[in-house]
Amino acid sequence: MRRLAGKVAIITGAGTGIGQGIAKRFGCEGAKVIVDYIGDPAGAEETRRAIAQSGGEAETVLADITRSDDIRNLIDAAWNRFGSADILVNNAGMEVKSDFWETPETEFDKVMAVNMRGAFFLTQLFVRRLRDAKKPGRIVNISSVHEDMAFPGFTTYCCSKGALRMFMRNLAVELGPLGITVNNVAPGAIATPINEDLLADKRKVEALVRNIPLGRMGTPEDVAGLAAFLASDEGAYVSGSTFVVDGALMRSYREQ
Ligand code: BGC
Repeated sequence: MRRLAGKVAIITGAGTGIGQGIAKRFGCEGAKVIVDYIGDPAGAEETRRAIAQSGGEAETVLADITRSDDIRNLIDAAWNRFGSADILVNNAGMEVKSDFWETPETEFDKVMAVNMRGAFFLTQLFVRRLRDAKKPGRIVNISSVHEDMAFPGFTTYCCSKGALRMFMRNLAVELGPLGITVNNVAPGAIATPINEDLLADKRKVEALVRNIPLGRMGTPEDVAGLAAFLASDEGAYVSGSTFVVDGALMRSYREQ
């Protein structure tokens, strides 16, 4: 399917993990993609090459979404290279494990800066451009089941994802009159570098999978299909909701 033909998408954190999966999928769907990355140029280049091989177009942009100059460059890259942008996927995210009573201010600030503040101000620039051009648009935030579900040891992460939930709800209302839809995709346990510590521990993975009714961890591709739907014309009347992709993890309770 080429549901995103003629569209331009900016995807943050697209050199790895879920962001990379979404970028590749958007490329297959015909979108032109701005591949934002920070730590891993080789990963971003792999994303770009995969999109080119599927007949699409992409450009990699090194931009730290916590820096104002960088987010301006990221938005400019879309307009300079492809003439505009239609879709923003706020995917870049991080998590740090620490007991609540040990969490330093620097850790709180960093997690909030990447997961929430970065999405806030990048979205603001994106929306200003659309508003000035009188163009509709799509915003998809990759949050987490932890925008709703507790995750002991990851309170900063949960605070940031909970904030992203209200960010989405507020923007859906405030931007609706501009023709901009806003939704969250909430992945569960997806095998990506964000949880490499967990993936390295077979026993922890087995315990986690026992809690997932579909019996496996998810893949970036599992998330990408939903993001593509929300970004496409098929999602035109869908705004203001969170869509969970977690193999029913959130609904699971077992006595064992
Ligand atoms: C986190 C993972 C966690 C998963 C399920 C994700 O949002 O990034 O570390 O395994 O949620 O709890």
